[in-house]
Amino acid sequence: METGRFFITTAIDYVSAAPHIGHAYEKLAADVLARYWRNRGAEVFFLTGTDEHGMKVAQAAKKMSVSPKKYADEIALKYQAAWSYLNIKYDNFVRTTDPSHEKFVQEFLQKLYDNGEIYQGNYEGLYCVGCEEYKVQEDLEPGDMCPLHKKKCESISENIYFFKLSKYQNQLMEAIQSGQLVIEPESRKNEIFKFLAKEPLRDLAISRSKVDWGIQVPWDKTQTIYVWVDALLNYITGSRGLWPPTLQLIGKDIFRFHAIIWPAMLLAGGYELPEKLFIHGFLTVNGQKISKTIGNVIDPIEIAKVYGVDPLRYYMFREIPFGGDGDFSIDRFEKRYQSDLANDLGNLFQRVLVMQQKYGIEWKYAVPEKTFPEINRAIEDLKFNEALNLIWKMITEANQEIDMERPWELAKTNPTKLAELLKGLLVNLSEVANLLEPFMPDTSRKMTEQLSTGHFEPLFPRRK
Ligand code: ME8
Ligand code: MG
Repeated sequence: METGRFFITTAIDYVSAAPHIGHAYEKLAADVLARYWRNRGAEVFFLTGTDEHGMKVAQAAKKMSVSPKKYADEIALKYQAAWSYLNIKYDNFVRTTDPSHEKFVQEFLQKLYDNGEIYQGNYEGLYCVGCEEYKVQEDLEPGDMCPLHKKKCESISENIYFFKLSKYQNQLMEAIQSGQLVIEPESRKNEIFKFLAKEPLRDLAISRSKVDWGIQVPWDKTQTIYVWVDALLNYITGSRGLWPPTLQLIGKDIFRFHAIIWPAMLLAGGYELPEKLFIHGFLTVNGQKISKTIGNVIDPIEIAKVYGVDPLRYYMFREIPFGGDGDFSIDRFEKRYQSDLANDLGNLFQRVLVMQQKYGIEWKYAVPEKTFPEINRAIEDLKFNEALNLIWKMITEANQEIDMERPWELAKTNPTKLAELLKGLLVNLSEVANLLEPFMPDTSRKMTEQLSTGHFEPLFPRRK
């Protein structure tokens, strides 16, 4: 992609609970991309937010004996505080309780209704509140259990409104096959294509008569709009007229909503499809699913307070190939902190700056000119671990060069060569600092500052 704009969206998180590291993972990935493209001079727009209506949120609020709105206000603040602590620089944050969002959702639906895309009917079936999703038997485990939430689905019998989703089956298949809507990784594209080719789509229930906490159906005050229809439209309400996005980033559990329902809604509403949908995997904690019941919900701020924000950002993208599932293991994290950050990068930086001072090498920091197409390509393809592998190769090579050239001996035998060697290493470090910005913005800034002033301070203090 060489266009001048990069509009990225993430999923908007339910405010039924505070953010955990799985939520942070997705927003951090979006931040890496947004920072990368900003540095490349693109016009970047990074949209995120919170999903605040529906039964899941209403039930969570009820448990705490507060109104859903009050609960949403509180949790939305926690999300914003977490993203700010983790140095995630978004450009807009949509809350689905924003009146401007609610108004747009009603207008959008009214238009579909007026155009004959919506009809009334009876819905009989199963619903998982955890997923906020209508389920069919083949999605469930015996006893109507949701395989994700391990909870029995509710049975629903209501007179509600349906969107003519079935009508869009062929158009969706064409859009996916032709690449009008790119779906990555490739395996996900194949998966959705197979799903679409298998059997006719059912029309989608888009309202509820028994859920109060939602946006009213504009032509029928007895109903509220299905929370997923409401939530998906955040991408338009938050877009400040920049529609369509370059990239929509989501987790694997909400893939079908984004690869089927969402593009069909856009087609029905006369909107362009997003350019690309990228589906990432799930984080586990020490090998286990993140879950309140298991009690392993990790607050990203707590982790960042102990280890630093940048080490957390680094670990997530170095350790786990983006797209697949990965494990957040404290043990692995501590190892990487020590070996990659404190030893490889931290020591290199210290050795070079200390020697520059000690041997009085005259050198002035300048923004590096060299480009690294292979690293750029890896980031643009969301192969973050490959990009970091390549950056660490530069670091390892610089360390090896010092060990081989033995500058402390050159200081006695060949000062010209010593100066050349150290200047080369200072340039390498400037390049590393630059390349690391999207992943470790603070470390990158510290490195650049210290390279400019020559005053050394440890990048990754040893932890007790
Ligand atoms: O699904 N690892 O919200 P959500 C990685 N409101 N990603 C994870 C994860 C984990 N362990 N757990 C969750 C919703 N996610 C809807 C989205 S979009 C119009 C509406 C990801 O709070 C998940 O896949 O359950 C999703 O992309 C995002 O976090 C929000 O999840
Ligand atoms: Mg979820």
